[in-house]
Amino acid sequence: MASSQTSIFHNIFFFFFTLLLLLSCLNKSYGREEIFANHLHHHVIAIKSLLPATTCSKVSTRGIKGSPSMLPLYNKMSPCSPLSNKDTLNYTQFLIQDQSRVHSIHSRISRGGSFIGPQQAKLPANSGSSLGTGNFYVTVGFGTPKSELPVIFDTGSDLTWIQCKPCVGGCYAQRDPIFDPSKSSTYSNISCSSPSCSQLSSGTGNSPRCSGSACVYGIEYGDQSYSVGIFGTETLTVSPYDVFPNFQFGCGQNNDGLFGQVAGLIGLGRDKISFVSQTAPKYKKLFSYCIPSKSSGFLAFGVTSSVAQFTPLVTDSRGPSFYFLSLQGISVGATKLAISPSVFSVGGTIIDSGTVITRLPPSAYSALSTAFRKAMSSYPSAPALSILDTCYDFTGLQTVTVPKITLHFAGGTDLNVAQSGLLFATKTSQVCLAFAGNTDAGDVAIIGNKQQQTLAVIYDVAGGKLGFGPGGCS
Ligand SMILES: *[C@@H]1O[C@H](CO)[C@@H](O)[C@H](O)[C@H]1NC(C)=O
Ligand SMILES: *[C@@H]1O[C@H](CO)[C@@H](O)[C@H](O)[C@H]1NC(C)=O
Repeated sequence: MASSQTSIFHNIFFFFFTLLLLLSCLNKSYGREEIFANHLHHHVIAIKSLLPATTCSKVSTRGIKGSPSMLPLYNKMSPCSPLSNKDTLNYTQFLIQDQSRVHSIHSRISRGGSFIGPQQAKLPANSGSSLGTGNFYVTVGFGTPKSELPVIFDTGSDLTWIQCKPCVGGCYAQRDPIFDPSKSSTYSNISCSSPSCSQLSSGTGNSPRCSGSACVYGIEYGDQSYSVGIFGTETLTVSPYDVFPNFQFGCGQNNDGLFGQVAGLIGLGRDKISFVSQTAPKYKKLFSYCIPSKSSGFLAFGVTSSVAQFTPLVTDSRGPSFYFLSLQGISVGATKLAISPSVFSVGGTIIDSGTVITRLPPSAYSALSTAFRKAMSSYPSAPALSILDTCYDFTGLQTVTVPKITLHFAGGTDLNVAQSGLLFATKTSQVCLAFAGNTDAGDVAIIGNKQQQTLAVIYDVAGGKLGFGPGGCS
């Protein structure tokens, strides 16, 4: 009797115990699913991490030592940059500069890829190009003996140039001594009558300009920055193992504009005279970079190690220098936005290393902003900051939960915007969605460097494809 009572007790106890265990398990698994879902569709971002860095965290050198073709990449505004604090911009000016680059890209493309002709430039320019902000740079060697010089890297233009002596029309202040071609044993002028000189003027329809027998180049940037000088050849040293004799470049004797303290620019565009084209025998038109969010990233040639998803590169006669992609859709959190694919195909899309904020067709931006506002409705809004109109006041908060944003490209390739690429912040009380809309539905959309941050971006130009891989800078 006693034993059967105990057994009933046991059974009842066991039943409830099992039920409890089951419930607690269910509870736990719900909890876990919630966390998992959160992780899938949202970023929990520490407010502190949004604000501009004031000290340099560790500079990543992974891969740089191992691969001679990998160069460390710095943001001019980063505290890690050897050039920082020498040309501090305020953030409104920074966004205005970004807009002037976008204007000049749009006008270049609407002119069918042609450069600004001399009728618009006050300078003896026979070609011009547009750039503007160009806020990342690498260091390469020019001449013999070699001068190590920091140059902005730009996937939106082709010509590589540096400031040169004599500064006939004036040079802007740079950190390093100005390059003197007369002190280099490997410098030569390109002749005015050479095919290389005529190549320089393609797009303008103007005959090459000459100075004596030397070929003259001129680049007029959208923001009134310019470089004019002699088109020459020189030995370019990327690393001790990668030396390019007779590299065609601009030796600028009349330069001014928003280049900060760098010595010039390296053109990684897709057209003939670009670095990518000139080094094709060695690097096979393959390069990749990682744009850092805070410290340093890299620019690598001829190698890729990262796992990536690829989307086809599109050729567009309106802009032979630009890397066109086929953007097809956008998701916010778990939701794919209802945007007609034709919205993206009207103006096309390019990826650009020098534009900061991604520009979308007006109706695509409006759909993105609406979905983002909906997901962020629990946070108080803040006034617009220049071109950014979806802003929040995060005063007093430690963390915020922000929906993930994914850009969908042809071939099923997704660009999952990293946490650091979602928001642009100058202060806690004004943090903005780091996307903007174009004014004209026919203007090209531009994937800016903010949204490329921390990804490995792989340009396989010969293979006709471009890839995005995660965790590129680490
Ligand atoms: C930043 O630049 C803008 C535009 O030039 C100017 O109106 C503003 O006063 C500047 N702000 C600061 C804090 O210097
Ligand atoms: C290149 O051309 C310029 C302008 O004509 C001239 O001053 C300079 O001496 C030339 N340099 C060389 C190395 O030929």
